[in-house]
Amino acid sequence: MKSKNVYLKPNLVVEPLFDRWYAWSHLISPATAAMNIVNRHLKILKSYIQNPQIHSAAARNPKMRGGPFVDFKGTRVEEARILHDQTIEKQAYQIQFTEAIGQLNKLLKTSAHGYSMDALYEKVPDILRGYVELVYDLNNNPSFRIFEKLLYNSKCYNESSQSIALWITNNDERPFVLSTPRLNEPDVIHVPIPFKHHGIDMLCKMRRSPGNIDDVAEALNIKNENRDLFNTFFTEEEPLTYKRYTGDKIRMRYFGHACILVETKDISILVDPLISYHGYSTDLSRYSEVHLPDKIDYVIITHNHQDHILFETLLSLRHKIGKIVVPRSGNGSIQDPNLKLMFNEIGFRNVVEIGEFDTIGSGNCQITGLPFIGEHSDLDIRTKLCHHVKVGDYTLLFAADSCNVEPKLYEHVSRITGPVDSLFLGMECDGAPLSWLYGPLLTEELPRDMDNSRRLAGSNYERAKAIVDVFKPKELYVYAMGMEPWLEFISSIKYTNESNPIIQSNKLIQECRTNSIVSERLYGEKELFYELELVER
Ligand SMILES: [Fe+2]
Repeated sequence: MKSKNVYLKPNLVVEPLFDRWYAWSHLISPATAAMNIVNRHLKILKSYIQNPQIHSAAARNPKMRGGPFVDFKGTRVEEARILHDQTIEKQAYQIQFTEAIGQLNKLLKTSAHGYSMDALYEKVPDILRGYVELVYDLNNNPSFRIFEKLLYNSKCYNESSQSIALWITNNDERPFVLSTPRLNEPDVIHVPIPFKHHGIDMLCKMRRSPGNIDDVAEALNIKNENRDLFNTFFTEEEPLTYKRYTGDKIRMRYFGHACILVETKDISILVDPLISYHGYSTDLSRYSEVHLPDKIDYVIITHNHQDHILFETLLSLRHKIGKIVVPRSGNGSIQDPNLKLMFNEIGFRNVVEIGEFDTIGSGNCQITGLPFIGEHSDLDIRTKLCHHVKVGDYTLLFAADSCNVEPKLYEHVSRITGPVDSLFLGMECDGAPLSWLYGPLLTEELPRDMDNSRRLAGSNYERAKAIVDVFKPKELYVYAMGMEPWLEFISSIKYTNESNPIIQSNKLIQECRTNSIVSERLYGEKELFYELELVER
């Protein structure tokens, strides 16, 4: 006899992993994944195996927050060694691929001096042949571009590294995920399925619609030995229900960090989804999954940083996303993976790429990509957009982490867009050095002072003020500060009142208020309503 229909518990974590590391976009695109395996995962594991005490001490030191230190509870050298050895065995091809990228860079440095590169193709390491084109820029600097789709179709895309971990959480705490892999724990079930697997949708739908445990256990191929634990992830208790917005205004709800839901009675737009679990006691109230509509018309992504593309949230919502709008990628360079390809490979349909000044939608809902400058350590990365959202006659600009290093840019942009009504701007103006995120992609180490000078920093007071001055918003909200406790595991940020981003954003907010602009730094949750004036179709 079949068991009865039940719901997923609201505090069940569905955590996507790659080789047991928290999965983020650079672990999907084959070239960046290979280089992160070698230059991040294996390096961190090796260092931990040699010096576990140093890692434990550093992981507990607030000054080292976000550093490459493994944060296990207790010493787990033997398990780390097994993971390290398994990775070397399983990712032999990726290790070879990473070495080949280094060799190709060396070849270009030593042999490409402005003359034709035709003869160099046969010297390209075998593993890369047919996957790269050798190019010069107009100043004769040699480089190469990769054919990313072909790499997804090669041994370099190792889907078997993908899995999901399922476990119940009772708080917001998790170790910083770029530095700590997830080992076996008695309360965690690891399900070895690729992210495109339909079982993930089947499971996540059960947060809202009841389903049968046996059916979902079968779809996910849950082993008999895990069935008792698996059964504890479900409940007969009906979840809180989402109340559809039926008013005649525009409703904006802030879910934390850069995640904002814009709704009218007809449409819904979710920006940079990052949703907290619920069902446990917390000090900070927040919106969660129960505040999302049954169908989200547009999910829009601003840029390819790990705190703006959260597979954990996106996979959970995949079944209810209408269109996912991503910035168009650039030029086949390793540091700038193609998001459309990536989302397609992991099972997202209706992925729409837009470029600068492209518009999707029409009439009373239009989303236009605007230039996003800086915040990527001066690397040539095109996959970033500020989104200009026009609902009826009301305009919202989600500028995310754009760092206004050239104020003339937005002066020019504003001549096309005109003023905006509500501006949302990130001001994490200290940022991490280049190597923190992109280090594994470098084939030569950067001198420390050079590394520190090229940061992943958003706008400071002056730069942010220049954006406010040109777009003349009625409301300015500082957001995307990485402050909420439920995203510390991915942002590694903890501010005090003396932190520079807090000082700089306080100054801007004060200035805006003096100039009669409604202004605040968003934290936790926020709900606002705007007048909706429909435009003629
Ligand atoms: Fe960013």
